[in-house]
Amino acid sequence: MAHKMLLLMPLAPLLALAKRPNILFLMTDSMDGRLVDFSSVEAQAVELPFLRRLAEEGTSFVRSYANSPQCVPSRTSMCSGRRTDQIRAWSNQKGLAASPSGELDASCVKYYGPEQCSAWAKTQNYSETIFSGVARLGYGVRLYGKVDIGAALMNDEAAAANISATGFHGPGPVIDITTRAADIRRPTKREPLSMTSDTNNKVHPEDWKTVERCREWIKQLPPAGQNDAPFFLHCSLNIPHPAFQTNATWLAKVNEDKIVVPQWPAGFPESWHPYDSYMSVSKHVQETSYTDQDILKVRKTYYAMCAEADYLLNQVWESLKDKGYNLSNTYLMYVSDHGEMNMEHRQDWKNSMYEASSRVPFAIAGPGVAKGRRVRQLTSLVDVFPTLLDMAGEVDWSRHSELAGKSVLPLANAPSLAPPSMAVTAGEDRAVVSQYHSNMGNTGSFMVRKGQWKYISFGHTLSAFSPDTYTPQLFDVDEDPGELRNLASQQQQVVEELHQELKKLFDPEEVDRQAKHEDYQVWQRFFVPLGKKKIMRKLKRTYKGFDQEDYKKLRQWLREASQIFDPAVVVV
Ligand SMILES: *[C@@H]1O[C@H](CO)[C@@H](O)[C@H](O)[C@H]1NC(C)=O
Ligand SMILES: *[C@@H]1O[C@H](CO)[C@@H](O)[C@H](O)[C@H]1NC(C)=O
Ligand SMILES: *[C@@H]1O[C@H](CO)[C@@H](O)[C@H](O)[C@H]1NC(C)=O
Ligand SMILES: *[C@@H]1O[C@H](CO)[C@@H](O)[C@H](O)[C@H]1NC(C)=O
Repeated sequence: MAHKMLLLMPLAPLLALAKRPNILFLMTDSMDGRLVDFSSVEAQAVELPFLRRLAEEGTSFVRSYANSPQCVPSRTSMCSGRRTDQIRAWSNQKGLAASPSGELDASCVKYYGPEQCSAWAKTQNYSETIFSGVARLGYGVRLYGKVDIGAALMNDEAAAANISATGFHGPGPVIDITTRAADIRRPTKREPLSMTSDTNNKVHPEDWKTVERCREWIKQLPPAGQNDAPFFLHCSLNIPHPAFQTNATWLAKVNEDKIVVPQWPAGFPESWHPYDSYMSVSKHVQETSYTDQDILKVRKTYYAMCAEADYLLNQVWESLKDKGYNLSNTYLMYVSDHGEMNMEHRQDWKNSMYEASSRVPFAIAGPGVAKGRRVRQLTSLVDVFPTLLDMAGEVDWSRHSELAGKSVLPLANAPSLAPPSMAVTAGEDRAVVSQYHSNMGNTGSFMVRKGQWKYISFGHTLSAFSPDTYTPQLFDVDEDPGELRNLASQQQQVVEELHQELKKLFDPEEVDRQAKHEDYQVWQRFFVPLGKKKIMRKLKRTYKGFDQEDYKKLRQWLREASQIFDPAVVVV
């Protein structure tokens, strides 16, 4: 160890010796990454003064992606530094079943029982979270707001009072997640206009409370320079997550004339890709004949929520500044778990690999971080953990060889202790990967971003998802930012090359099979014992308009899944 440290010392002697900077980790949920790429068209729609200042005073990774565009899968992946296929936290019903030290998560146990949770924990291969990692490095860790990863973080009642979202939604097994591969094409969500209001004058009290708690805690900190151990403060908001609710205060920050009405691909649903049409139907955006005004109403409400988030984040930073903390003694990092479709491609929510949903903000500022730098190299949320370790002065990088991402500090010109294999090199032609296995997608989807390209492929485990219909998509994101022209059949060589990028990391067909196998197991263990009557009631409540044809599809899924995963069970 000493030998290794000596080798590393010359790289960043000052950082290793000097007092280590504090870290303020700010998060939002559902912030479209393009809104904080201030040269983008989308960013013109709303004023985000705090995040703009962060971009001016720090480095922005303007092409960052979620590794799985939904809360729990994205956050578990980011917080463990591993891909979804490695930690098998596939959906919002399954976060990390145990802490890094093996303590079972209380919510997991409550909903699924200790045996199931132990079994899951054994296959969730991770050894640290961001929080246990920086704590090991001597940081005082404080968590406020939305965490949503499980990992026993909320087992302690006192700690649970300040954080929200357990990582195991439901509560308990969720029928539309579990039966996604039955391909039941029915709305499972509220129609977007029905959850949009721009006259709600009591919006988001829980986020205001989170910020108040962060500020209270900051108030009792010693003045900058006098704190013995550095702190890691996590303040994480739920907004701009739907429902779309705002009021005149926040709407005043929106530049309505700059909001673009997105073009929807023609021929819905017949000539759409069956994966995309499933998602639009599932999200309940299928039948209404939307006017431009309707679409604008949703869009501007979402942007107004982004302005509210910006205001709240700034409050936290201002409190720290009042105590003398600044960018020479404190790192600031801002990310979001995924974006928001906000009516692009006839969709709201996230779940999709399209830019609005999969692209996320990722910006840092602090000691030595280049100011006003806009990094166009591809990054993703699995880079967050190694970057935080690097900020926290990690020297023992051998323990992190399994992390899926790399430290981005060198791209920001900031002092870095990460060895070359664990740090992104400027100019490196990186591929970035994302995947999705949850309720609003009827089969697994896999994305590779490399250069100008975005490649999306689908899992084919069950016959409903045959390679003839669930064909890949390829978009030139630079030339076609609206992602309306699928070039996959014209660019077969690019498709092949990007598919190989995926295969270097894992076998997508095998991963799709594993995720669907777990859906089937959850069905067998947690739904079948309820009996047909209760199951039917749940199905009808979840899938609006569920009928006999849908029931046949469900039976078909069960028959086929049991043949593949459990030949001993006879489904009649
Ligand atoms: C878990 O990760 C370690 C490396 O961290 C690897 O050696 C091991 O094979 C993995 N185990 C499983 C069950 O995937
Ligand atoms: C929760 O936050 C309050 C401040 O609002 C603080 O006094 C308390 O110690 C916190 N609890 C934990 C376990 O962090
Ligand atoms: C809008 O909501 C915020 C809280 O998010 C509140 O502070 C503000 O007073 C409200 N504006 C109006 C016009 O009621
Ligand atoms: C940052 O804060 C430290 C400690 O309070 C102070 O010494 C330093 O001058 C400040 N730097 C700037 C640029 O304000």
